[in-house]
Amino acid sequence: MLSEEKNRLLTRVGPGEPMGDYLRRYWIPVAGASELDETRVKPIRILGEDLALYRDLSGKFGLVERNCLHRRADLSYGFVEKTGLRCNYHGWLFDADGSCIERPYDDLAHPQTQGQKLPCIKAYPVRELAGLLFAYMGPQPAPELPVYEPFTWKNGFNQVVTADIPCNWFQCQENSCDPVHFEWMHDNWSVRLQGKDAGYSAKHLRVSFDEFEHGFTYKRIREGSSESDPLWQVGRVTLWPMGFYLGQHFEWRVPVDDENTLSISWFHVRVPKERQPYVQNSVPSWKSPIVGPDGRWISTHVINQDIIAWVGQGKISDRSKEYLGASDRGITLIRKRFFDDMEAVAAGADPKGTIRDPEVAKCVPLPTGDSNANRSYTQEEFMRNSYFKARVTEDFRWHAGQPKEVRKAFLEAVGATEQIVKEGL
Ligand code: FES
Ligand SMILES: [Fe+2]
Repeated sequence: MLSEEKNRLLTRVGPGEPMGDYLRRYWIPVAGASELDETRVKPIRILGEDLALYRDLSGKFGLVERNCLHRRADLSYGFVEKTGLRCNYHGWLFDADGSCIERPYDDLAHPQTQGQKLPCIKAYPVRELAGLLFAYMGPQPAPELPVYEPFTWKNGFNQVVTADIPCNWFQCQENSCDPVHFEWMHDNWSVRLQGKDAGYSAKHLRVSFDEFEHGFTYKRIREGSSESDPLWQVGRVTLWPMGFYLGQHFEWRVPVDDENTLSISWFHVRVPKERQPYVQNSVPSWKSPIVGPDGRWISTHVINQDIIAWVGQGKISDRSKEYLGASDRGITLIRKRFFDDMEAVAAGADPKGTIRDPEVAKCVPLPTGDSNANRSYTQEEFMRNSYFKARVTEDFRWHAGQPKEVRKAFLEAVGATEQIVKEGL
């Protein structure tokens, strides 16, 4: 149970709020780069700020405040130029650092004012990495953008999946440090959703949590497993400040504002050996629906099941009314880490896991207990591996609503024939 004041500290993300200031010290994933392939400008809202994200005609990404310097028109309806974004109302042109570089009528009517230094609009640096766009919204100098090791892996089919979640980000991120929910929400509930009543899945017998530079690892032993199990030896990663890493995929719970979260996930599947070298020219991005045709939350996929827990806790979970139990050690630890880091940032220090050394940022290894991660299989081994087989022979079960063209590209990349897809091996 937390006081209302502490709950407030954990959940308010706007500028000037302690959590808002803390989160602004990290590079934050804000979109899939391919979201700007066709529409070159789109509105986004991150940490309570309304912004326009764009890719200009020279391919450079930019992120600026949504209202024009001139008379506040909506720059997400602007159009891109070779350099920067032009407002559609009177044509003022802004570059990626927020400077106004052209005022067409003023430049003509008062040529002497051309080049005059005007106030800048708010602008944030954006970097593309592994098909994701990361933005930095904090004070300069920005830390390095960490290139987590999986982003350097070759021969993979990657995809970016997003979902709009109507609740506060922190209750989503607490789930990244909660191993026991897996037994109930994903195992026991899934069986019942399929209309079966097959008893209960293997119980969690022990859980443990260790802190490392970039987050926590959580570890578990379930009935039937032993201390040599990779999920006990290595575990899974709660990644600072809003990420979760499971070996072949990342999930981030990105605060849109106090009551909304953008879920961004990055999935990697190594193609079979026979199909290597494989180069993916563009990483597809797609939005996953979370509401079914009956108006209820979609419950058939793992992440969607998690989302049901998160939104069920309320727009902003009222932690003054909760009653924590023995499975919540990770929840307590993650809160403490955030309180400590908010204080550190307020005192002028860098929070946990920020990297200032470019050499270190080039490749940041993360622990993984996933035996499939970064491993090449032959085509036959691949099709017989239960993890990959599920992705080939069923609908991609991690997220609902994968577009047909993404699925087709994935099946082609891994060499799955229509027959295998229909009948299995
Ligand atoms: S409002 Fe943007 S140019 Fe006038
Ligand atoms: Fe989960």
